[in-house]
Amino acid sequence: MATALIILAAGMGTRMASDMPKVLHQVAGAPLLVHAMMSGAALSPEHTVIVTGHGAERVGPIATAFDEAAEVVIQEDRLGTAHAVAQAKNALAGFSGDAIVLYGDTPFIRPETLEAMIEARSDHAVVVLGFDAADPARYGRLVTKGDTLERIVEFKDATEAERAITLCNSGVICADAETLFDLIDAVGNDNASGEYYLTDIVGLARDRGLSASVVRCDENETMGVNSRIDLAVAEAAFQTRARTELLTLGVTMTAPETVFLSHDTVIGRDTIIEPNVVFGPGVTVESETTLRAFSHLEGCHVSRGSIVGPYARLRPGTELAENTKIGNFVETKNAIIAEGAKVNHLSYVGDADVGAHANIGAGTVTCNYDGVFKHKTTIGAGAFIGSNTMLVAPVTVGAEAMTASGSVITTDVEDGALAVGRGKQTNKSGLARKMFEKLKSKRAKLGKG
Ligand code: UD1
Ligand code: MG
Repeated sequence: MATALIILAAGMGTRMASDMPKVLHQVAGAPLLVHAMMSGAALSPEHTVIVTGHGAERVGPIATAFDEAAEVVIQEDRLGTAHAVAQAKNALAGFSGDAIVLYGDTPFIRPETLEAMIEARSDHAVVVLGFDAADPARYGRLVTKGDTLERIVEFKDATEAERAITLCNSGVICADAETLFDLIDAVGNDNASGEYYLTDIVGLARDRGLSASVVRCDENETMGVNSRIDLAVAEAAFQTRARTELLTLGVTMTAPETVFLSHDTVIGRDTIIEPNVVFGPGVTVESETTLRAFSHLEGCHVSRGSIVGPYARLRPGTELAENTKIGNFVETKNAIIAEGAKVNHLSYVGDADVGAHANIGAGTVTCNYDGVFKHKTTIGAGAFIGSNTMLVAPVTVGAEAMTASGSVITTDVEDGALAVGRGKQTNKSGLARKMFEKLKSKRAKLGKG
């Protein structure tokens, strides 16, 4: 059966105290909205409709960057969750199948949970995701009779007895799209908030003799983000879960609580991660690598057997082939480092192609930027770049070529050649001793012993 996602993301997010729309704040390197889209993507939806409002001009492009097929609609006046869902009606004209409503500020709903809801739909017209709340606070309460969900009552409208119910509404609702929009048309706003409540569709469905039911999930899944405090709690929850997953998959972390992962970090088994390693988005690391302490990786690939760090920074476009070594205080960007190559100390390698088993000496810099354009450096297999070489790009150093340390290399070096690009050394016999004597006698005259 075809499915359509409707993700509500029009809210102000006042409590974030931010100029940025709430759903664009990030957890593990991805906006909250993208987390919701990722959960829903597991259902291979035929449509994904994002209901935006506050900051729509910023939210829309982020949604379509993640999924170019996403349809962004605007809710001009925020009159409640039912009104928000109604904005998706035109986008879903002609669609037949299930519609599932998610919130853009609720990042952790598991795909399996959504699948369970779709499955429950074969027996019920409306399926609501509920959870047993440790503190039900102001959540909507699910009023059930046996296995049947009779209605949802919002906290503000609930009686004392209803407020005592701990089974709460997560906000995720699934129904046949046509039925959903029909029921929404019947929703009014005669309630304590004067809003059109999506939750009213359950009671309306029951009045029409349709069945409604609850799928339950863990409270952690329905965690919503309303403030920076919630955002920090969500980040911590994500990190704890992601670290545990990696440990379970056979990755060693000596101090897992100091390692920070992204939503899409992939690490192979028998890799060792030392303390304080940070992963930005887009990192894949193969098996049996060592990522040493205080390294920062982002948008890069590290192949089997490589050693990175301590204190290395791998920036986007870095590709390390097998058994490479990137040492302390080395920064790489848009750099292809072939098998067995070493950049061990204090270097910048950017917009570069480094051949197999090349050795890049300490303090080497690829001078890739002329102030306007970026240029490429190519270093051949087995080349030896002497310490403190400046490679002024565009430039090529051939296979098994060498550069003398301290050289500024501005023209290509052919295979097997030694390039020396520095001032010639001259030694002045006895001159140092003379200079010392002169300086010491000056100090004596000044009376400083
Ligand atoms: C809602 C549910 C409540 C549930 C709770 C779970 C209703 C009436 N109540 O309450 O039962 O326990 O979520 O967190 O649905 N939004 C729009 N446009 C609007 C209104 C809301 O896009 O006009 C979006 C918000 O940005 C948010 C989501 O819908 O992402 C929920 O709205 P919110 O105002 O937070 O609803 P709650 O009062 O928390
Ligand atoms: Mg809310």
